[in-house]
Amino acid sequence: MSLRQKSLDLRKRMQEALSGGGEKAIEKQKATGKLTARERIITLLDVNSFQEYDLFVEHAGKDFDMDKKYLPGDGVVTGTGTITGHPVCIYAQDFTVAGGSLGYMHAKKITKIMDHAMNMKVPCIGINDSGGARIQEGVNSLAGYGDIFYRNTQASGVIPQISVILGPCAGGAVYSPALTDFVFVVDKISKMFITGPEVIKTVLGEEISMEELGGARVHAEITGNAHFFSESETQCFDQIKKLFSYIPWNNEKKADAFPPKSPKTKLYKIDDIFPTNPKQPYDVRSIIKSICDDSDFFEVHELFAPNIVVGFARLNGQTIGCVANQPIALAGVLDVDSSDKAARFIRFCDSFNIPLVTLVDLPGYLPGIDQEHAGVIRHGAKVLYAYSEATVPKMTVILRKAYGGGYIAMCSHHLKADFVFAWPSAEIAVMGPEGAANIIFRSEIAAAENPDEMRKKKIAEYKKKFANPYVAAAYGYVDAVIDPAETRHFLMHGLKISQNKNEHRPYKKHGIPPF
Ligand code: HXC
Repeated sequence: MSLRQKSLDLRKRMQEALSGGGEKAIEKQKATGKLTARERIITLLDVNSFQEYDLFVEHAGKDFDMDKKYLPGDGVVTGTGTITGHPVCIYAQDFTVAGGSLGYMHAKKITKIMDHAMNMKVPCIGINDSGGARIQEGVNSLAGYGDIFYRNTQASGVIPQISVILGPCAGGAVYSPALTDFVFVVDKISKMFITGPEVIKTVLGEEISMEELGGARVHAEITGNAHFFSESETQCFDQIKKLFSYIPWNNEKKADAFPPKSPKTKLYKIDDIFPTNPKQPYDVRSIIKSICDDSDFFEVHELFAPNIVVGFARLNGQTIGCVANQPIALAGVLDVDSSDKAARFIRFCDSFNIPLVTLVDLPGYLPGIDQEHAGVIRHGAKVLYAYSEATVPKMTVILRKAYGGGYIAMCSHHLKADFVFAWPSAEIAVMGPEGAANIIFRSEIAAAENPDEMRKKKIAEYKKKFANPYVAAAYGYVDAVIDPAETRHFLMHGLKISQNKNEHRPYKKHGIPPF
């Protein structure tokens, strides 16, 4: 065969491999609002940047007549490309080929591209659309998952790992996304569960639809397994691109700097947002927007544990990670879920050199039998651990309430915040005036002729003494009491001063966080 004939033969082979599971399967895929694996990759990456590898890999199944079957690319597309010019490694499972099920060679393709990502120190994106372990390949499928989980763990904190759930992600398959940094889901398309409705019905007699069990909303709002929710695949890809504009490409780099932009002060004015009445809630996202560049705040885990807000923004062009109590949801308390949410985000920022800005307004940890029994001690400790462990620049602004354990946990000086600022509205004490007065003045209140009057008097006394930032400032626990309008200025200055921060911790193999 001449070289030309060989090239034609190559083209023919490529065409066959690129046809995936064939027209019928592709039609079925599209009918459910899903793109094909290659379309997904091409839509997400920069135009003409995708380079595919291992197109001719063949599956290794021998049993159940598998040796007679041809599975193009073994049901997964892998390769490299760029997003806004930055290199990434990527794989997308092809549901049109054996339901994207994961056999031995399918897993080998994935682990190979993950190894590339680690060697090249670039992010790895996995698009999941699969029926799970390929049943016909038995233990080799399980081995494949194990190999992926191991790599997810090694890559954790070294390169950003993104999981996109664009179809079923069932059984053990869910644990790869669970080990990665950010999970994206799309309404009506994503489905994640360990055991499906059929098994649940058989084993437990409970009936539930796939959507109610593990649909996108369930994971974005209830379980917290998903960090980003969208209405369509294209919206989801836009979210991923936006995320990449805020984060660095590995743990040795800083995120790209952008031209600084002032906040949209006409839309977000602190005086208009922050209520005079200390009992009135407000949306802390508006405060973040009043401070950050262009009032552009990219929220993470938006629908989960809304009593804490986490996400990325920029100050003077530089990425920051914001963590803020949210007074409009459960008064911004720390509970089991919000502690998990905050701790995880703090650890991501610390791993990837993103300075942390914390806005504090909370009555404390949430009391109650449910929370105690759900492990608020163990989960709450994660916040303390994450902030104490973090060595990136850490700046805190106490807006209003900072009571009890909440004060300490929200990146106080005691957990080694670099700068703690407080607004004049800050209230820093062991507990709120009402609760405190009832305890420390109990006998005086009980003995009074008019206990209600005495309670009011004592609450006012306590408020005057403690419900302000000046006691903490007197001990140096607050570095500066600032005019709210100066918040951006103080934070930008703090960030500039912290550029070369290089804090060391004692040697250890690793810590033991309260998982
Ligand atoms: C082999 C599979 C497969 C699998 C799907 N297919 N899942 N082949 N192993 N796990 C094949 C189907 O046989 C079918 O092939 C094609 O993919 C499309 O599947 P359909 O069922 O027709 O599609 P749909 O109706 O959309 O249903 C999708 C589905 C369903 C909900 C994902 O296929 C399903 O329930 N699959 C099994 C899910 C599961 O229990 N997986 C194992 C989990 S255990 P044809 O040739 O007919 O087109 C696990 C353990 C890992 O993953 C542990 C690691 C630690």
